Amino acid sequence: MGVPFEVVRAPAEMRARAEDQRRDGRRLCVVPTMGYLHDGHVSLLRTGRSMADLLIMTLFVNPTQFGPGEDLARYPRDEAGDVDKARAAGVDLVFAPDAAAMYPPGHQTSIEVRELAAPLCGRSRPGHFTGVASVVAKLFHLTQPHVAVFGQKDYQQLAVIRRMVRDLDFGIEVVGVPILREPDGLAMSSRNAYLSPDERTQATCLSRGLRAAAALHASGERAAPTLVAAARAPIDAAPLARIDYVELRDADTLAEIDAARAPAVLAMAVFLGRTRLIDNVVLG
Ligand code: PAJ
Repeated sequence: MGVPFEVVRAPAEMRARAEDQRRDGRRLCVVPTMGYLHDGHVSLLRTGRSMADLLIMTLFVNPTQFGPGEDLARYPRDEAGDVDKARAAGVDLVFAPDAAAMYPPGHQTSIEVRELAAPLCGRSRPGHFTGVASVVAKLFHLTQPHVAVFGQKDYQQLAVIRRMVRDLDFGIEVVGVPILREPDGLAMSSRNAYLSPDERTQATCLSRGLRAAAALHASGERAAPTLVAAARAPIDAAPLARIDYVELRDADTLAEIDAARAPAVLAMAVFLGRTRLIDNVVLG
């Protein structure tokens, strides 16, 4: 009953494959990625594999989610390596379209998830989540999944996509997978490849900050300024690190809170040199 592994590039062909598989009664799962796969991506693929008959991975560095001064041109790429890793992780079909096929001339429609996309990364990266929501909507339409898997590393992205799926009645089950970390605590990311050896060493300041705050929370501390200060301390002490934001927010609405009474997310974005890293922990 297994289908032969394949790489599909044309959007129309992708949709036709998905429609055939659905007609045959198979359950489809999609894992959207921008490639340069690491073990965090692989853990999403394994989750997806366990939930579906046909596992689709999309591989597309989406230009519309990068701002003018950002790293689109130098974003790391290794398509051949990614295809091998995807296949080894049990992917049935890799959808790897060209930007020109995804955004033909005259393209002008987008999806805005207003409130959830406004704070945190949305404030530092205007338009980013509109680019993400819009491309994920397109990928959903082309791959026709029953279930889609995303990482909790991009906490706000996961929240934005869940809300889009709910608000626009996509009828897709969205599954979130915990953050996978390097042995020293650094959250795995394709962007870690940018770090110099010194930056890589100091990059543990993000997870050390989160752990310190989580330990305080576990000992009963609830005040946002205290938890945020604990998270900031190791970052402030790292000479190559510069904080973009460190904030405590409601875990569901991402609204500002002054204390972690209900489940809260402590989220941060930190520059190590030119490289912007994000990380978070859910408290409670
Ligand atoms: P990308 O950064 O390639 O991430 C693809 C998926 O892998 C996302 O759901 C992300 O949250 C997850 N991920 C990344 N690092 C992880 C880690 N250390 N542990 C667990 N999951 C991790 O996110 C994107 O691509 C794009 O915005 C995309 C959704 C594909 C739209 O273009």
